[in-house]
Amino acid sequence: MASLISSIRERNKKTPTWLKVLVPVLAVGGLGVVVVTAALVAFVVTGWLGQPVPVLGFDQTFDQPIDFPHTVHAGTGQLDRDPSLPELGLDCTFCHRTVTTQANAGVPPVQQCAFCHQSIGPESNSQLQILRDHAGIDGSDKEPINWRRVHRMPDHVRFVHEPHIRYLTANPSAIGNAGSEVTGAASVEPSMVCSTCHGDVAAMEQVKQVEPLKMGQCVDCHRDNGAPTDCAACHH
Ligand code: HEC
Ligand code: HEC
Ligand code: HEC
Ligand code: HEC
Ligand code: HEC
Repeated sequence: MASLISSIRERNKKTPTWLKVLVPVLAVGGLGVVVVTAALVAFVVTGWLGQPVPVLGFDQTFDQPIDFPHTVHAGTGQLDRDPSLPELGLDCTFCHRTVTTQANAGVPPVQQCAFCHQSIGPESNSQLQILRDHAGIDGSDKEPINWRRVHRMPDHVRFVHEPHIRYLTANPSAIGNAGSEVTGAASVEPSMVCSTCHGDVAAMEQVKQVEPLKMGQCVDCHRDNGAPTDCAACHH
């Protein structure tokens, strides 16, 4: 017994002090690394596979200051109000002018609406009345319309429209939610590619987010089409 104790004492003396200090530090540090890694992995996994929670932006829609129907303006059917009249079939880029050149698609200023609605549309339409008030048509003060954003990425994500429109118009086979006459073409107009991420907006009375637009969807398409998949490509 005595010899055992003395041999432990002996060994203890031989253990260098730096090792005595390092072992507990490593143990605690290792635990920290495990905790941080686990948190990070959980974070990434939810980011990747996470089923969209409705509140966090999937299938979301908002009431807008004016009930602006994409159907009437961008659709190609007949007006509900008077089926003998056609919908306008305006091109998406007529209103979302910067979508082919910039990060943001852009939403037109009220003056652009007023260009038509100064004269077009019944006086009695309450929504058009709000529009005319904002445009200062009836002598009221001009005031921009504060449209509410439907699609919005978190602050740590970077999204730019321009490269997507450029790539998809030249590579229609990568377009989502479109018929084979579109995806089979050699190249298409910009307004043919929006459905990939926004669904069929021209058929929406009120715009809503129909694609989850979660990280997995972005990364899958990037991988399939030779676009960057490093974290810094999409994260600030
Ligand atoms: C190129 C012309 C044109 C532009 C630009 C335009 N509109 Fe219209 N808008 C129309 C026509 C045509 C109708 C159908 C009028 C009717 O029912 O007789 C219409 C209808 C409407 C209606 C009534 C819809 C309904 O169901 O009764 C609203 C509201 C409206 N527009 C808002 C807007 C807003 C907001 C903008 C700008 C972002 C805008 N419009 C830009 C031509 C235009
Ligand atoms: C006459 C102008 C006009 C035309 C044409 C038009 N839009 Fe819009 N768009 C608007 C306005 C105004 C808003 C903001 C109000 C709203 O969300 O309804 C909007 C909103 C949107 C949004 C939602 C933006 C957000 O907040 O996330 C998308 C997506 C969109 N448009 C796509 C399209 C597509 C795709 C087309 C072509 C099929 C199109 N738009 C044609 C005027 C237009
Ligand atoms: C690859 C996916 C993708 C495609 C293709 C795409 N969008 Fe978007 N769009 C988004 C995302 C993501 C957002 C939200 C961006 C943010 O919050 O920074 C967005 C936002 C918008 C908005 C909101 C406001 C703004 O100014 O950006 C409009 C309007 C819009 N898109 C219109 C369009 C139109 C029109 C097209 C087709 C010409 C189109 N988008 C094609 C993914 C896409
Ligand atoms: C339909 C396929 C597709 C989807 C979906 C998609 N992307 Fe892309 N993205 C591309 C392609 C292809 C490019 C490269 C285009 C080029 O420059 O040739 C690109 C380029 C980018 C770029 C520019 C990268 C750089 O530095 O050049 C960013 C940022 C980006 N995407 C972010 C996103 C985000 C965020 C999402 C999800 C909301 C998304 N993308 C969804 C296909 C897609
Ligand atoms: C092609 C674009 C793209 C790339 C590349 C990308 N991300 Fe993301 N990431 C997104 C988008 C869009 C979101 C926001 C939507 C969501 O939560 O899925 C997101 C969200 C996240 C979140 C938050 C998840 C949550 O639940 O809030 C984390 C963490 C994350 N990304 C980490 C990473 C890491 C680490 C990499 C590199 C391995 C990476 N991302 C590469 C697009 C991208």
